[in-house]
Amino acid sequence: MKLIHLTDLHLVPPGAMLFGFDPAERLSKTIARINRDHADAELCVVTGDLTDEGDAAAYDLLRDVLQELRVPTRLLLGNHDHRANFLKAFPDEPRDRNGFVQSVHENSAGRLIFLDTLVEGFGHGSLGDGRLEWLLARLAERSDVPVYLFAHHQLQPIGMAHFEPWNTENWRSIMEAIVDAGNVRHIFHGHVHVDVGGTWSGIPFSASRGVAHQIVPHFTRMDAEFVENAPAFDVALIDGDGVLVHRFEVSDKNVVAVSAAG
Ligand SMILES: [Fe+2]
Repeated sequence: MKLIHLTDLHLVPPGAMLFGFDPAERLSKTIARINRDHADAELCVVTGDLTDEGDAAAYDLLRDVLQELRVPTRLLLGNHDHRANFLKAFPDEPRDRNGFVQSVHENSAGRLIFLDTLVEGFGHGSLGDGRLEWLLARLAERSDVPVYLFAHHQLQPIGMAHFEPWNTENWRSIMEAIVDAGNVRHIFHGHVHVDVGGTWSGIPFSASRGVAHQIVPHFTRMDAEFVENAPAFDVALIDGDGVLVHRFEVSDKNVVAVSAAG
């Protein structure tokens, strides 16, 4: 299975700018690159912060820009999002029975589970109000297949002091339950605006640094330096042997040569 991981689009209403740049333009450039090189992907998962302030007009803009993408999408919510405004623009996006934007996608590679960690008005994440129970039920009902989790917030720490207050609440007990379930092969997340990957108690994870602004990875500072690097996205190749994550920059650099085959 080939899968695109996009995150942290931070769209603003048409005509507005964010830190002096246009987030929708960055998304359009990213979509053009995906259409050129990765239109054969099965799914494009966007792990939240679809908009910067949750404006209805920004979700309408997102819907319009995504029309260009030739890969089917699954949209998750982040701490900058607004659930009701999102659902007005995307009424068909699947939800769990409590109304959270959580769902499952199954294919020959296994089971992909999409989580809703948004606590409206706050920066940290949560799987409260039945969301963790929903996840554990989805893990238990197919204990025989590999599972890949997608969330906006990190479920494990990433080693940056700035993000400690913005972790998922009760993350340790959540991760222990995930380890106990025994079938989670990888966690994909956003939120942190840095490229980071690793393992927590044997569970691999990867964060894409995002399409909008990025953050310089200081480890002990509580503040954050935002920078405007090239938009980035990840491509995951998943099969029965494991998961590969390739990272791509959408830059204007020219190809300087093409080698012979092989
Ligand atoms: Fe973000």
